[in-house]
Amino acid sequence: MDRIVVTGGNRLEGRVAVAGAKNSVLPMLAAALLTDDQVTLFDIPHLDDVFTICEVLQRLGADVRIQQPGTITVNAADLESCEAPYDLVRKMRASVLVMGPLLARRGRAKLPMPGGCAIGSRPIDLHLKGLRALGAVVEAEHGWIEARVGRLRGNRLYLDYPSVGATENLMMAATLAEGTTVIENAAEEPEVADLAELLKAMGAHILGAGTKVLRIEGVERLGGADHRAIPDRIEAGTYMVAAAITGGDVYVANAEAEHLEPVIAKLVDCGALVVHDRGGLRVVGPERPRPTDVKTMPYPGFPTDMQPQMMALLSIAGGTSVITETVFENRFMHVAELKRMGAEIITDGRTAVVKGVAELSGAPVRATDLRAGAALVLAGLAAEGETEVWGVHHLDRGYVNIEGKLRSLGGAVARVEDSLLARRTS
Ligand code: UD1
Repeated sequence: MDRIVVTGGNRLEGRVAVAGAKNSVLPMLAAALLTDDQVTLFDIPHLDDVFTICEVLQRLGADVRIQQPGTITVNAADLESCEAPYDLVRKMRASVLVMGPLLARRGRAKLPMPGGCAIGSRPIDLHLKGLRALGAVVEAEHGWIEARVGRLRGNRLYLDYPSVGATENLMMAATLAEGTTVIENAAEEPEVADLAELLKAMGAHILGAGTKVLRIEGVERLGGADHRAIPDRIEAGTYMVAAAITGGDVYVANAEAEHLEPVIAKLVDCGALVVHDRGGLRVVGPERPRPTDVKTMPYPGFPTDMQPQMMALLSIAGGTSVITETVFENRFMHVAELKRMGAEIITDGRTAVVKGVAELSGAPVRATDLRAGAALVLAGLAAEGETEVWGVHHLDRGYVNIEGKLRSLGGAVARVEDSLLARRTS
């Protein structure tokens, strides 16, 4: 029950480096199931979500080793099981990404039906529809989904929505299918393209990754490969907002400007100065942010994973902003917490009207999910007084040492262990 305690008012200055992208690394670790050779991944962030998927792989029988900080090797030569354990899938939805690879390599995959999560019901119907179209027989019973197939057969697939996870699962499955698969209305996220780079290094034939139409020619087998993940654009965006919200001057090393265009555009609308070079991005925050409207969309639109952080920034803007969340149906859980800090926000369905206030005031608040937690820490940096953010385990799913990195920029941010718990366990 750790908390992060933020004392607001410090202007952030300096340089911070972002790690490899969590949302690239999770499907890449699942992709290692497609081969009996070794896959080595570099720049792996040490995050709870990464360790969870590693545990899923281990429980399936893969040999997973952390070679040195940031490098993981996976050898899935001797898979013992095709069943993803309930306790891990429940903990992290991205575990469903093992389904495509297991089915393609072993002809069978079984996993518990993922339940809802804090930001919406998040079904996996598009994953299952696609796998059926590739020839799998998929059955759901007693809370489990079981898929079987001799060998997957290529087909033309159209995704009703450009789901990131469905695109990744189906792309991985199609690499070992017989014949050609075309995925239309595919997700264009940079992490999908990054996964395709790994798959191509393993011997897959993929065209169009990072665009709306993917073409995959199935091969008989894939081999091992070494790959370095792209930098995490959401971690980078979070530190960019940290600069903007404190009127600071921060260089975010490794940030890839091309992947952050919608975030840069909105920060510029708010009055920030953003310049980039080959090594990263510099953000100089305005004295007070200007209001702007934000609508989340699949890539290259504004990322839903940056919506809560942007809301924190707009809550102190000199005017009213409208935020529309189109990707998830229930992603305004942070609103109630920001209001506890004095923000003036009204929501109606998928729209939030944010009337900027002159100053937020520090308060005890609770992170309900990963990015909501980030938004509260950012709000705390700009608030008057002390903000205690509870539910820090959510932050540990997606940020490596957020308190240390913010401290290195001059933020008064500390992690505090719950004293009661400490006393009970000592
Ligand atoms: C991924 C990211 C997550 C990000 C999200 C949207 C990973 C590990 N996670 O999640 O951080 O917020 O993309 O950018 O990469 N949907 C369906 N049926 C499906 C699949 C999805 O209706 O079969 C809906 C979802 O409920 C949601 C929308 O499609 O409303 C987008 O979901 P999706 O793109 O699949 O997100 P994830 O891959 O789960």
